[in-house]
Amino acid sequence: MTKIDKAGSVTLGDRAVKRMGYGAMQLAGPHVFGPPKDRDAALAVLRTAVAEGVNHIDTSDFYGPHVVNQLIREALSPYPDDLVIVTKVGAVRGEDGSWNAAQEPGQLHAAVEDNLRNLGLSRIEVVNFRIHPGHHGRGDHSIARSFEAMAAMQAEGLIRHLGISNATASQVAEARAIAPVVCVQNQYNLAHREDDALIDALAADGIAYVPFFPLGGFTPLQSSCLDAVAQQLGASPMQVALAWLLRRSPNILLIPGTSSVAHLRENLAAATLDLSAEAMATLDAIGSSSDRA
Ligand SMILES: NC(=O)c1ccc[n+]([C@@H]2O[C@H](COP(=O)([O-])OP(=O)(O)OC[C@H]3O[C@@H](n4cnc5c(N)ncnc54)[C@H](OP(=O)(O)O)[C@@H]3O)[C@@H](O)[C@H]2O)c1
Repeated sequence: MTKIDKAGSVTLGDRAVKRMGYGAMQLAGPHVFGPPKDRDAALAVLRTAVAEGVNHIDTSDFYGPHVVNQLIREALSPYPDDLVIVTKVGAVRGEDGSWNAAQEPGQLHAAVEDNLRNLGLSRIEVVNFRIHPGHHGRGDHSIARSFEAMAAMQAEGLIRHLGISNATASQVAEARAIAPVVCVQNQYNLAHREDDALIDALAADGIAYVPFFPLGGFTPLQSSCLDAVAQQLGASPMQVALAWLLRRSPNILLIPGTSSVAHLRENLAAATLDLSAEAMATLDAIGSSSDRA
């Protein structure tokens, strides 16, 4: 359950994490496949994140594959006591870099074993079951068989807490009927607001919401309204986009991704950016005009 203390930490499962975390996907090579162009730079991003106080890192063994988890282990192991590493299972990469569904119980078990081995852990704090997106994005098919397999691995002691990713509200409800869900990781940002109602419902139930593509992902956010607010505040548009998410709902935990130490520092500084009610209203209108028009 999510508890928020006065210093802005949130309890994810039963560990306190800061609301500003780090998403490691960008550390792999182009198209999240193969090794990074600059290995030392990738290690430096991870070490800088932790040195600057990040204690929540999002990853997967299918980033690379294996590469990102191995970088995390090399950069950060032995891990600081307060570091919470969250991973996800549900896909495998083809030799051509393709993303293929791996949602069967045996495949999920193999994926958890891969994460444990490559991260050098005996148990993973949180594992998200990532529902493989269909050709038309999210669907509402039953995820019971897969999520029961996740719950079995939790009972076995391989996983401490479960999350779910790429899920509709009814799939979240189906998962919660099988086992407790501590976080939901879906696409959400200033311009992509499909999950507005789900975020509010999860907040009421004390479940963390972790938006992926908080900066727009592979096509970073671009908006003249965002640029105008950023200019008024003397901040960058990316910082304002992150600050908006932090203000949007107290159960939101951020995992912006970057392969650059400079961008990492810029993103972390967004945690202290204050947005006025007027700035929030201007920013809210971006989502209203793109998604809901
Ligand atoms: N569950 C899922 O299905 C799923 C899907 C996608 C991602 N994720 C997770 O969510 C995390 C976040 O998503 P993401 O990394 O794909 O997208 P993102 O955080 O929205 O954006 C990352 C992109 O923005 C750029 N960027 C970051 N900070 C910047 C800054 N201050 N100024 C300018 N550009 C900046 C990065 O380039 P540089 O490297 O040049 O900074 C990169 O191209 C991932 O790392 C991953 O852990 C989960």
